[in-house]
Amino acid sequence: MKIGKTLITTEQIDEKLEEMGRTITEDYRGKDLLMVGILKGAFIVMADLARHVDLPVEFDFMAVSSYGAATKTSGVVRILKDLDQEIAGRHVLIVEDIIDSGLTLHYLIRNLSVRQPASLELAALLIKDEIDRPQLEVKYEGFHIPPEFVIGYGLDYAGKYRNLPYVAIMEEEG
Ligand code: IMP
Ligand code: MG
Repeated sequence: MKIGKTLITTEQIDEKLEEMGRTITEDYRGKDLLMVGILKGAFIVMADLARHVDLPVEFDFMAVSSYGAATKTSGVVRILKDLDQEIAGRHVLIVEDIIDSGLTLHYLIRNLSVRQPASLELAALLIKDEIDRPQLEVKYEGFHIPPEFVIGYGLDYAGKYRNLPYVAIMEEEG
């Protein structure tokens, strides 16, 4: 496997995150916002998006099991690291790198709703099109992409390529 065609450039991502950050700033003005990043993939999106949010935001992280080294989801979601804090009465915004099968977020939303946050919304940089998934309302979305395996900007293949500053398609060699 190797780095294939660039799908979304650094400039396009910067511009989109700035726009998303501006909307989030307007929507949460006067509210106590807690941004929750889903590790590991969301760490880069979270860091860059958060710097475009002009509010006194708090942060927390969750880690869930996903792909391992394969490129297809197992459908099984396991919490490896839970939130450090209670979210009852808080305005929670979940930040994800990509929505593929949607199983991770579907599970997380059910899991976090039970804790009775004041609000619970989703932000995702990438959404794969043409995928059958449980209904998910993504309030802040970046780009719709074709159903290909992509890397970069937090997204990995077998643990690598997360630090690519753009999103590229993973390509078979030969
Ligand atoms: P889900 O299938 O929507 O539950 O996605 C679960 C997780 O799989 C995402 O948060 C990503 O970390 C990972 N993932 C999904 N699609 C890709 C991809 O194209 N490249 C790299 N990781 C991916
Ligand atoms: Mg992830």
